[in-house]
Amino acid sequence: MKRSRSISPAVAILVAEALAFVVVLASLPGQTFAGKTSAFVRKDEKAVDMPLDSDVFRVPPGYNAPQQVHITQGDCDGLAVIVSWVTPDEPGSSLVLYGTSENDLILSANGKVEQYRYYNYTSGYIHHCTIRNLKYDTVYYYAVGVDQTLRKFWFTTPPEVGPDVPYTFGLIGDLGQSFDSNNTLTHYELNPRKGKTVLFVGDLSYADNYLNHDNVRWDTWGRFIERCAAYQPWIWTAGNHEIDFAPDIGETEPFKPYKHRFHVPYTASGSTAALWYSIKRASAYIIVLSSYSAYGKYTPQFKWLEAELPKVNRSQTPWLIVLMHSPWYNSYNYHYMEGETMRVMYEPWFVNYKVDVVFAGHVHAYERSERISNVAYNIVNGQCSPVPDQSAPVYITIGDGGNQEGLATNMTEPQPNYSAFREASFGHAIFDIKNRTHAYYSWHRNEDGYAVEADKMWFTNRFWHPTEESSAYVMHSLH
Ligand SMILES: *[C@@H]1O[C@H](CO)[C@@H](O)[C@H](O)[C@H]1NC(C)=O
Ligand SMILES: *[C@@H]1O[C@H](CO)[C@@H](O)[C@H](O)[C@H]1NC(C)=O
Ligand SMILES: *[C@@H]1O[C@H](CO)[C@@H](O)[C@H](O)[C@H]1NC(C)=O
Ligand SMILES: *[C@@H]1O[C@H](CO)[C@@H](O)[C@H](O)[C@H]1NC(C)=O
Ligand SMILES: *[C@@H]1O[C@H](CO)[C@@H](O)[C@H](O)[C@H]1NC(C)=O
Ligand SMILES: *[C@@H]1O[C@H](CO)[C@@H](O)[C@H](O)[C@H]1NC(C)=O
Ligand SMILES: [Fe+2]
Repeated sequence: MKRSRSISPAVAILVAEALAFVVVLASLPGQTFAGKTSAFVRKDEKAVDMPLDSDVFRVPPGYNAPQQVHITQGDCDGLAVIVSWVTPDEPGSSLVLYGTSENDLILSANGKVEQYRYYNYTSGYIHHCTIRNLKYDTVYYYAVGVDQTLRKFWFTTPPEVGPDVPYTFGLIGDLGQSFDSNNTLTHYELNPRKGKTVLFVGDLSYADNYLNHDNVRWDTWGRFIERCAAYQPWIWTAGNHEIDFAPDIGETEPFKPYKHRFHVPYTASGSTAALWYSIKRASAYIIVLSSYSAYGKYTPQFKWLEAELPKVNRSQTPWLIVLMHSPWYNSYNYHYMEGETMRVMYEPWFVNYKVDVVFAGHVHAYERSERISNVAYNIVNGQCSPVPDQSAPVYITIGDGGNQEGLATNMTEPQPNYSAFREASFGHAIFDIKNRTHAYYSWHRNEDGYAVEADKMWFTNRFWHPTEESSAYVMHSLH
């Protein structure tokens, strides 16, 4: 939407909103809609990493005390949890004690400990222990650091997988460890919509921006997120900052630090690599893809996804969610078209299997698309524009976690008509599944109060209730 420079921003916003509303009214139903580029103005300051002596990086007291404690789902259905932690001085015990009574941890499981080297850095002792046969929808207490410094945490298992189970996911991407990252995590923790599991869309620590990819910054990141990730699972996606490929310093094994530190249940979904896998959680089927592993025809990831999509039973898990790092639809002038080759390979499948929503990161900003597809093109027919398609996913870029690289503010102009809303601000989102037909989605920017929704949308399930969603629907909910 063009506007004159002479009118004040506040008036311009009102005019823009009113115009958008008129456009919506004039074009109902099923027409194309003008997207919105938010006029929100934030402080434009550089994102600065928190110094090594920050409170959030503090080493827990006690000899060989476990640190960087984090959990993730450990099987297909949510009845297992992988507990991971690091001990700094010696291996110590890989036992996890757990139980449903806080002061009586009567169960135990033993994990494994590993270590890795990266250039001149040697990691601490990294423990991973999978605890299995849990009960659904139950609070478990657990402890690590047996026989040395015992530290206790707790988590809640998800409800049994089923079509009408409500569940609330948080979305965070490209987090890093700046003061803004801390702000994003705090906003997620204090959001009254209360996310129960984080879907993390890649780019974790940004340690690779330091000299020799200083892996000490992987440790600080692990300590930073512990306050959340020890108590609720974070579902991991690998981004480009996890590759850590640095042949100039002799580091030629891609994803080395990431794979040692963040274990995921990939074998449970028949995957042969930790970088792509799936889980079921409550009423959602979540597929994690790797933008930085081969995905062309005949590759392991291609074959896995080809076999995986037909397995999704929408009667059991109505909501089909895909996570990846590099977005397919992105109208910012950053990482422009980097997701294009994967889109060309997989988009027809996503439309065919009616994926509800795709979350990506990479671009350090926020964007939500209309339901669109671009699958008609066959090299000779010239049909290469995204078109409205109610069988297609909504694409959301949520790479706005707040890392030190700062915000992506440069957008392609004019805003393409497939882009429904875009804004360069740090924040997080919540995907709140109500039942098999409805999910409420909201985006929360860090500048606002914890409960403020800067963008929002009702999702209707593509399998059970594929009503037409459009900006009109969104505009309506704003009034
Ligand atoms: C990070 O955020 C937490 C929670 O708001 C706060 O207690 C802490 O002081 C912050 N740390 C830094 C370094 O900003
Ligand atoms: C690794 O090397 C860098 C410089 O190349 C140096 O500053 C750093 O202290 C070294 N770290 C260790 C653990 O030796
Ligand atoms: C799909 O899930 C439903 C509900 O759990 C079940 O009754 C049905 O047998 C499943 N279908 C297939 C093909 O497995
Ligand atoms: C924004 O990106 C475009 C395309 O890369 C470039 O030509 C332009 O100079 C950039 N604008 C600013 C203000 O950086
Ligand atoms: C965008 O506009 C073009 C040209 O008017 C049209 O063909 C296309 O369907 C529109 N796409 C969307 C997503 O509305
Ligand atoms: C599903 O949730 C939506 C939104 O809360 C509600 O309007 C609808 O009635 C629910 N459907 C059923 C069958 O309960
Ligand atoms: Fe990235």
